[in-house]
Amino acid sequence: MKPDNPAEKVFTYVVGAVGVAFLVLHFPSVELLKRFWPQALFLAGLVGIVEAFPVQASGSRLSTSVGVPLLHACVVLCGREIGMLVAALATFRKKDLSGQTPWNVVLFNRGMLVLSNYAFGLTYYGLGGTAGAFACTRDMAFFALGALADVVVNGYLVSQVIALYEGSSLMSAWRKNLRWTLPSKIAVIPLGILVVVLYQSYGLLSVAMLLLPLALARYSLDRFRLLREVYAELGATLSQAIEHRDGYTHGHSLRVSQYAVLLGKEMGLPDDEVELLHYAGLLHDIGKIGIRDSIMKKDGRYTVDEYEEMKGHAAMGAEMVRGMKFLGKAEKWIRHHHERWDGTGYPQGLKGQDIPLGARIIACADSFDAMTSDRPYKDAITWEEARRELLDKSGAQFDPEVVKAMLKVIDKLSSQKDKPVKFPGRVW
Ligand SMILES: [Fe+2]
Ligand SMILES: [Fe+2]
Repeated sequence: MKPDNPAEKVFTYVVGAVGVAFLVLHFPSVELLKRFWPQALFLAGLVGIVEAFPVQASGSRLSTSVGVPLLHACVVLCGREIGMLVAALATFRKKDLSGQTPWNVVLFNRGMLVLSNYAFGLTYYGLGGTAGAFACTRDMAFFALGALADVVVNGYLVSQVIALYEGSSLMSAWRKNLRWTLPSKIAVIPLGILVVVLYQSYGLLSVAMLLLPLALARYSLDRFRLLREVYAELGATLSQAIEHRDGYTHGHSLRVSQYAVLLGKEMGLPDDEVELLHYAGLLHDIGKIGIRDSIMKKDGRYTVDEYEEMKGHAAMGAEMVRGMKFLGKAEKWIRHHHERWDGTGYPQGLKGQDIPLGARIIACADSFDAMTSDRPYKDAITWEEARRELLDKSGAQFDPEVVKAMLKVIDKLSSQKDKPVKFPGRVW
């Protein structure tokens, strides 16, 4: 259950109310509306079309669309007042109107869009940009700077509400939820410039031609998202297959994956490596699929030969995933997840920094879960006991830096209450 968070609610209402106040204060005059209504309606229609096909972020309730460059073009072509009105009204989505999105979030989104477009207009016109069309190339630069101002305002408001919602810091909310949208936000800035130039040279209908490349961009973005979901499902299915084989360790792969991801984040690894840790954690014992039943299902202690055969699962697992190109260096992490810092592990007896960092992380996550889960041959120990055990073996079995990070992860997890969830909003 999501804990009620009054601060987040208050913030959404405040942003919504400020947005509405800006709309009222800057409401377009009848004269402006009379003069610009064809352009405004046309652009609002285009925005409505692209907003009808938002792209959902993987593993998040946030979504994005490519409508913002059109809103910026509207601010240039029809003025700031009409631009803000179009931003507030043309961006309603079906789920906003059907009640699927909480209404404070709908209000927040309106306020956020009004304010970020206000920031765009303030920058563009403040720097001396021309209304109605570009008068010189300098106007294009002003447009780009205005779009960056929008990125900053939008980034702040959305990160702040997520930070309040999840109880995290502003920076970590931004990194987790918005960083992925930054390249596309910057990449679509020229699109807004193109809209103004096309309008200026060939009139309104020429702008409609942009819908085709926009649709293609949206299609590609969505394919990319789907591909990542396929990877995630593939990883989850394979980890279930491992657990089916190794019936004693229910949920082990998933937990190792979660600990490894938290460790990677704690140690400041880049996002792509953290993502690989997720997959390597899920699949680290995949080699067990190739181990004989008589060994896998054995209740008592292994003989020396049986233990040697069991040890083969690390190298065998690495061989199995070698063909999965997206796993990249995770193949090595799987191969070496039973190496020990002091060089007494397997399969190669690598020592210290020679063991790939990902493998050192998986090794720590793996052992922590093994210690804190019931196994047929031993009962689980408490987190506190496992914490002491990790400290004991730091510098022998485990990398001391990884242990240091793992202790922080354990402390954070222990103090965590019900944490759900993602803010069900939009990013542009
Ligand atoms: Fe293993
Ligand atoms: Fe394991």
